[in-house]
Amino acid sequence: MRGVQNLRVGFVGAGRRAVHHVRAFHEIDGVELVAVSDPVELARQSVMEEFGIDHGYADTEMMLDQHDLEAIVVAAPPHLNVVAAKPSVERGIDTLVEKPPGITTEEVSELADLAAKSGARVMVGLDRRFNPWITAGVRAVRGRGPIRQLVGEFHKDPAEFFGRGLSEDMLDALVFESPIHTFDILRHIADSEVATVSAHAARRRIQYRDVHAAMIMFENGIVAQFTANYTTGGRLERYEIHGDGISAYLEGVSEGWLLVDGERQELKPDSEARSWELQNRHFADCLRSGADFSPGCDISDAVKTIALGEQLLSHTE
Ligand SMILES: NC(=O)c1ccc[n+]([C@@H]2O[C@H](COP(=O)([O-])OP(=O)(O)OC[C@H]3O[C@@H](n4cnc5c(N)ncnc54)[C@H](O)[C@@H]3O)[C@@H](O)[C@H]2O)c1
Repeated sequence: MRGVQNLRVGFVGAGRRAVHHVRAFHEIDGVELVAVSDPVELARQSVMEEFGIDHGYADTEMMLDQHDLEAIVVAAPPHLNVVAAKPSVERGIDTLVEKPPGITTEEVSELADLAAKSGARVMVGLDRRFNPWITAGVRAVRGRGPIRQLVGEFHKDPAEFFGRGLSEDMLDALVFESPIHTFDILRHIADSEVATVSAHAARRRIQYRDVHAAMIMFENGIVAQFTANYTTGGRLERYEIHGDGISAYLEGVSEGWLLVDGERQELKPDSEARSWELQNRHFADCLRSGADFSPGCDISDAVKTIALGEQLLSHTE
């Protein structure tokens, strides 16, 4: 498949997130949207109609038996991504799997081992790595020298996860749902192995873990503070990237500014495109060129992010 321009893509899961993925691939030249699998007929029909996809299946194995696909995109409910990704990975088909790719190091390592055995290339949809505000902020700070300190926060109303059939394990580990973006991007920006983690998690407002605070020390000396909160009624994601005489403050992450030698300066995003559009284009480019997924999150890199997530949960009140 390497070097072949046309890319035949199938989709596993046809819910809200999948629509963004299908739309993003629809915009990429030489991509053929071949088939969708989702146990819910209404979900797959809606995506098939919107994007003119001819084939829909309730079962992924059946879809893979019927079509010769070069890439699969998995966007199943968060606790099911690891299961939903296995059929394509087992068959050696390159797969982009939404986050979280699992919620234990063990299951994500198993997926990585399966990929190594079958030859499938697996990238995880940790799309903040492509966020044009984050990449611009990191570049500006690195332009003045080393990054010294990071702050990352992700706060969300947990109510959006109730009544959706999520497993109890997933609900008690919602830090792996949205805030996984935050601790992954802290790791990614630090560009170093985790040295020590001092973390605290608690169940305060709901019966699941809804308060998280941590200090993460990286081997290269970068210090990162991490907060995830699910007691709030609203969504907020923000980052601080501090270097020598310069800081980037990022909100949203759809706006941001710099403080340079004490003066506020404008920060311009690296692109007008959305993070997942850049990510999916990169995934397709890598499949065509054979290049590795960096700065995308290869499954072996994701194992390290999941291990960090486990450390964030290790001291629960
Ligand atoms: N990267 C991001 O910023 C971002 C944003 C939103 C959601 N997500 C992730 O995307 C994933 C999907 O979220 P969503 O909001 O679309 O959920 P959703 O519930 O809207 O959609 C999930 C779909 O998967 C289907 N499904 C269930 N089991 C399946 C299986 N075994 N095989 C195939 N399909 C199956 C469901 O019927 C449903 O249609 C989650 O992992 C979520 O964390 C990521």
